[in-house]
Amino acid sequence: MVQYTDELKEEIRSANDIVDVISQYVSLKRSGRNFFGLCPFHKEKSPSFSVSVDRQYFHCFGCHKGGDVFTFVSEIEKVSFKEALELLAERAKISLPVSENADFNKKQYLKDRMFKVNAETTLFYHERLYKPLAKIAQDYVKQRKLDNNTLKAFKIGYSGEYNELYKYLKSKNFKDEEILSTGLVNKNDNGEYIDRFRKRLMFPIMDVSGRVIAFGGRKLDNNEKMAKYINSNENLVYSKKKNLFALNLAKQSDSKKIILVEGYMDAISLYQRGFNNVVASLGTALTEEQGRLLRRYSEQVILSYDSDGAGQEAIMRGLSILENQGCDARVLQMDGAKDPDEYVIKYGSGRFKLLVENAISLVEFKIKMLKNKYNLENANDKIRFLKEITKILSDVDNKIEREIYIDKISEQYNISKEAIYAEVNKEAYVSKNTEKILISPIQRKEKKEEINQTIVKRENMIIYLLINHFKEAYEKIVTNIFIEDFKLEANKLLFETILNSSAEDSDKILQIVSNIENPEIQSHVSEILVTDYEINSIDKCIEDLVNTYNKERLVNRKIEIIQTLDSGSASLTKEEIAKLEQELSSIIVELAKRK
Ligand code: UTP
Ligand code: MN
Repeated sequence: MVQYTDELKEEIRSANDIVDVISQYVSLKRSGRNFFGLCPFHKEKSPSFSVSVDRQYFHCFGCHKGGDVFTFVSEIEKVSFKEALELLAERAKISLPVSENADFNKKQYLKDRMFKVNAETTLFYHERLYKPLAKIAQDYVKQRKLDNNTLKAFKIGYSGEYNELYKYLKSKNFKDEEILSTGLVNKNDNGEYIDRFRKRLMFPIMDVSGRVIAFGGRKLDNNEKMAKYINSNENLVYSKKKNLFALNLAKQSDSKKIILVEGYMDAISLYQRGFNNVVASLGTALTEEQGRLLRRYSEQVILSYDSDGAGQEAIMRGLSILENQGCDARVLQMDGAKDPDEYVIKYGSGRFKLLVENAISLVEFKIKMLKNKYNLENANDKIRFLKEITKILSDVDNKIEREIYIDKISEQYNISKEAIYAEVNKEAYVSKNTEKILISPIQRKEKKEEINQTIVKRENMIIYLLINHFKEAYEKIVTNIFIEDFKLEANKLLFETILNSSAEDSDKILQIVSNIENPEIQSHVSEILVTDYEINSIDKCIEDLVNTYNKERLVNRKIEIIQTLDSGSASLTKEEIAKLEQELSSIIVELAKRK
């Protein structure tokens, strides 16, 4: 395997500011020296994900993931460290030496050619739509009420017959390998090249930056045996779970909302009627990657799935994926049409806009689904319904939000507010009781952790000083604090690594420490580096630390002597006892002086 040099690694690292890179995935807010946001690696409601500008490290205090910019990209894109490095090199437009990664360069070149094949194909299909031979497609487009601006905006096209595209692409000097890689043309058993999309209405699928990465093609006749849509298969430039149809257009919208629909035609039809903030999933259930994309480009996502199509499970899953990304997710409720395209044609954009405004939250959606299971005319059902509602409401952390829901539910389902409050309080009371039962062991555990925390903090601070203030701190620390003083294995290892290194400044130490290939150590280091220890004077800080350790050693020795005198004095000589007693009294005097 190809290894990149440390110099190259450092060049790539310094060309990719960690805050810039992470901001593409997480919305970060500055607070003092650091940036904070919602952790992309675990579900959370208040931000415990921190990024240090100075040290170029991230750390999550919730799930304890952490590391440098390479670690971040490899974790979030789920790629190897090496691939993360290559992605970041590409991002910073740093070319990797050919000899160092011929495979990578070859792949880059092929990708580039595939984009060009896709671009030429888009043009070919689009121009073909306007030719006389495309009458069937023109009629269809008219019937679907698409206007010319829309055809242009989405570069909609009409695919040819047999191998027309192949011949066209060959005339543009593309190689067979480049054409076949896009999946636009297949080679059959007889060695003939046949276009994949034939006589279909073509929808180019673009990535966020507007490059065509794939196509969807709709059949134009009513032949039941033919699939309504066929789409490009996944390939080097196309991954359907990482893209959303029309996101390149929606990201330009001023709206803070994005409407998520299921079909190409829904997105296109809404766009034509003034909703420029619509995207379509690509024939898959919403993925986490798509959730992240939506989070990046919007504050609120409105799920507008077909009224008959997706089950409530799919909606529920979509909503929770989005909420986990910290998105405000809503569900649009539609009656009287099977999908948004049909709705907006039938009832107009004004009515659809109202639906968008009245989209409901996950909690409301769950309650609505629940209601379908019960007959509220029946007293028993009503009580059971009420109990279930209470469970759903108990997941709502925010008190004000909970009260708003109670108001709404009371009005909508004709249940008295008092009854809901009584039930909610009962639930709260019950859960409080169980808390009480648990309280003593938990408190004990916390107390124990507290002691550990002070030790951990103290040790971390030593490592922090050694990394960040190497020149001022090194001598004073290593002459007074020793490896046996450390309790935490990670700190022991870091301390040892620093002692054994020949580094002479902070930058070098940081480099050595960040090259320890152990995710737990990296997580630990990143936590140390992003913590603000509020050190005013380094000298004073070290003095305090050294004093603490000295005092602790004295206390331990005192206990040891007392124990020896108590239990083992029989086996000691008089002189030995006198010596220990003398040591003990001097320790007691010394400790008293320190108080
Ligand atoms: P729909 O059938 O709801 O799409 O399928 P639509 O856009 O409303 O189609 P029209 O209005 O009948 O023309 C939703 C999406 O599922 C995928 C496509 O991405 C489509 O847009 N799909 C559907 C396929 O990939 N293949 C199919 O055969 C059908
Ligand atoms: Mn449709």
